[in-house]
Amino acid sequence: MEGKRILASSLFFLSIFSVSRVVAGALPPELKGAVALPLSTDGRWIVDGNGRRVKLACVNWASHLETVVAEGLSKQPVDVISKKIVSMGFNCVRLTWPLFLATNDSLAAVTVRQSFQGLGLYESIAGLQANNAPIVDLSLLGAFQAVVRSLEDNNVMVILDNHLSKPGWCCSRFDGNGFFGNVYFNPDLWIKGLTKMATLFKSSPYVVGMSLRNELRGPKQNVLDWYRYMQKGAEAVHSANPNVLVILSGLSFDTDLSFLQKQPANVTFTGKLVFEGHWYAFTNGQEWSDGNANQVCGSIADNVMRRIGFLLDQQWPLFFSEFGIDLRGTNVNDNRYFNCFLGVAAELDLDWALWTLVGSYYLREGVLGMNEYYGVLDWNWCDPRNSSFLERISTLQSPLQGPGLSKSNPHKVIFHPLTGQCILRQSISHPFKLGPCSESKAWSYTPEKTLTITGTNFCLQAEGMDQPARLGLICSSSKWEAISDSKMHLSTSLEDGTTACLDVNSDNEIITTTCKCLSKDISCDPTSQWFKIVNSTRYSVMRKSSFQMSSILGFNWKDLLALWTAIAI
Ligand SMILES: *[C@@H]1O[C@H](CO)[C@@H](O)[C@H](O)[C@H]1NC(C)=O
Ligand SMILES: *[C@@H]1O[C@H](CO)[C@@H](O)[C@H](O)[C@H]1NC(C)=O
Ligand SMILES: *[C@@H]1O[C@H](CO)[C@@H](O)[C@H](O)[C@H]1NC(C)=O
Ligand SMILES: *[C@@H]1O[C@H](CO)[C@@H](O)[C@H](O)[C@H]1NC(C)=O
Repeated sequence: MEGKRILASSLFFLSIFSVSRVVAGALPPELKGAVALPLSTDGRWIVDGNGRRVKLACVNWASHLETVVAEGLSKQPVDVISKKIVSMGFNCVRLTWPLFLATNDSLAAVTVRQSFQGLGLYESIAGLQANNAPIVDLSLLGAFQAVVRSLEDNNVMVILDNHLSKPGWCCSRFDGNGFFGNVYFNPDLWIKGLTKMATLFKSSPYVVGMSLRNELRGPKQNVLDWYRYMQKGAEAVHSANPNVLVILSGLSFDTDLSFLQKQPANVTFTGKLVFEGHWYAFTNGQEWSDGNANQVCGSIADNVMRRIGFLLDQQWPLFFSEFGIDLRGTNVNDNRYFNCFLGVAAELDLDWALWTLVGSYYLREGVLGMNEYYGVLDWNWCDPRNSSFLERISTLQSPLQGPGLSKSNPHKVIFHPLTGQCILRQSISHPFKLGPCSESKAWSYTPEKTLTITGTNFCLQAEGMDQPARLGLICSSSKWEAISDSKMHLSTSLEDGTTACLDVNSDNEIITTTCKCLSKDISCDPTSQWFKIVNSTRYSVMRKSSFQMSSILGFNWKDLLALWTAIAI
């Protein structure tokens, strides 16, 4: 009885407080609308108050370096930056903070101006004065709150990430911030700081999550202390602010949560626990450029799945809270890694936070105005550093799957990581092309390994080496198999018995070519041939009736002739 009453009253509160809010982001048309915050978890998915999936498509915004001020405020007004975040398709920011901001009252009370003066950053002060005058004489904590407020005003969700303790660049194994008991990492103080921040943002609905500690690492790291302190930190955050998602990171720079296979985390609350992992190219040194791209992708992706990805299979939400590349596109190690990453991210429809928003830092590792080549904004925080990169990740900015997404039948889309696009059918007589995944037809990948357009007898057919692939009806002879260690080459046997792989030509048409460097060769780049057949329930064009209508109306005489020819053969 007592239990029932509690349930009834908490339902009552839920109905009052799960107010729908607009959340930024590139949602497909049928999903536009309000998200009911706060968020919670449903199996491996993060969902809103209506049980509908919310995909975290975040960007990291650093606010943990020596100045303890969110980067970029000397370059652009905070509201302009928030709006740029939205216009680039992100719905969320992982905002980093140093523990001492929350635990050292005299640090929290230092003004922005004083902080910059103390570091000799006079040019930045002038920039702050010009772009963010109301912030210059706020305290550091006040400035942090002003940034959160600006993100909220722009419907951007915020995840507060305790990045380290002592303000500065992160992370090295020996910087004193790496693990509980290190010189700057007192566990009790950490609990105090987490509690303070959770309490401070309790009435900010857009603060949807807290990352408890970034990249645990170093000689002191051990599993026993992980359980002891992470569980304690999780309880502290949850009791201070039961609305937020509580996000736990792993060992070895947040690349390892494998110990949870044997012993799950034990917390008293449910529906709020999320794990996070990081995956960069340099996590594996130069392995990507020193090896064969297929073999390296296969082995490293397997390893990532074993160390962190398994949590999804165990029905835990997993947030890839840092990944990224040099956006100049000249780093082979980064480029190969990123094609592999995008394949995995699309296939698993991951929640993620890109490193980084930051175009340049006030001061990083002693360098004034350091350019950040991983940053989506340019040095001036003005324009996107690389717009083709943004196009490439745009497919991943909205959900492909998950609760409440769509009533339509599950299907596949064929994703091409190098472009971030999908294979689109145009019409019978025209070759397939790459285009926005939102315009993809529903594909089926049948047990016979044919790729057919759902609800029709039409399939993807190879015509010959270096020829465009076409829509056809002779499906039994067009089987597509995912081959190589990366499993990202879609190969088929041609009439003459040779093997060909799907590829893209310079006109963006889908063709079949000789399969490239499936193994061994370390110099050749196979990524134009990398595709991933991805589960989706996303789009309303998948509704059968509208699909059939458009198929019929889309046929012109040429199509019908081709169809007739196809049938006649
Ligand atoms: C607290 O912050 C002030 C101002 O930055 C600093 O001088 C002091 O050393 C800090 N105290 C501790 C215990 O870190
Ligand atoms: C989980 O923690 C509770 C106390 O919070 C304890 O009673 C229980 O035994 C723990 N369970 C496991 C499996 O460790
Ligand atoms: C953007 O990245 C692509 C590779 O993804 C590269 O070819 C291009 O040069 C980059 N553009 C700029 C402006 O850096
Ligand atoms: C895709 O969907 C199929 C069929 O429902 C399922 O067996 C498979 O595990 C899914 N793959 C992923 C990566 O979720």
